[in-house]
Amino acid sequence: MSRSSKPLPATADAPSLRLAPSILSADFARLGEEVRAIEAAGADIVHFDVMDNHYVPNLTIGPQVCEAIRPHVKIPIDVHLMVEPVDALVPLFAKAGANYITFHPDASRHVDRTLQLIRAHGCKAGIVLNPATPLSWMDHVMDKLDLVLLMSVNPGFGGQAFIPATLQKLREARRRIDAHVAAGGQPIWLEVDGGVKMDNIGEIVRAGADICVAGSAIFGAADAAGSYRGVMTGLRQAAATPA
Ligand code: DX5
Ligand code: ZN
Repeated sequence: MSRSSKPLPATADAPSLRLAPSILSADFARLGEEVRAIEAAGADIVHFDVMDNHYVPNLTIGPQVCEAIRPHVKIPIDVHLMVEPVDALVPLFAKAGANYITFHPDASRHVDRTLQLIRAHGCKAGIVLNPATPLSWMDHVMDKLDLVLLMSVNPGFGGQAFIPATLQKLREARRRIDAHVAAGGQPIWLEVDGGVKMDNIGEIVRAGADICVAGSAIFGAADAAGSYRGVMTGLRQAAATPA
């Protein structure tokens, strides 16, 4: 598959993949240390899961926690809003230091407006599609997307098993994005979230993902010294190993 339109620039540390540890699986009592540890271990992005016990059956963290961790790292904070309604939280997270804000379009009454709102607050904007949510949600807002996040589990909890049908959906999303870029459109990053592990990250990247979120796979695998360097390097190597 041609990856010529791949939007993310390569770096020495991340030649073809951005790793975004999800702090949902971090030790919440030591969140500052945890985000510093993943940055030191080579993380590209902090993935920040916001759950409201309404859109999803769980409750996590909000803008004040985002603001609290912001000074601890330089890498972008990727706020994944699993909330309904969406819009009121956008300015609060932008002010709290979020760099990317994604939301589930089925939780926003006016998807186009929400995307514009996120960009107007200086953040990159994206939609998140659940396993059973069709890619057609992208159709009329392609020009307003900076990223698309495909859920490979049903949202609400860390540590769930990857849903294999996501691979075909990733390939199709990659094809649509590449066609959009080839026709002169802006870059759109393709992110995958849920059940990403050492044994499936290769397939996921080959299916077209630019950014892989991983929670339990990273935070559950600190080495004896408490570093995440080993697991992150392992994930990158697994991602780069041919099938
Ligand atoms: C699930 C969250 C994910 C989750 C991923 O609703 O959006 O970001 O933390 O965790 P793992 O990698 O353990 O599936
Ligand atoms: Zn997430």
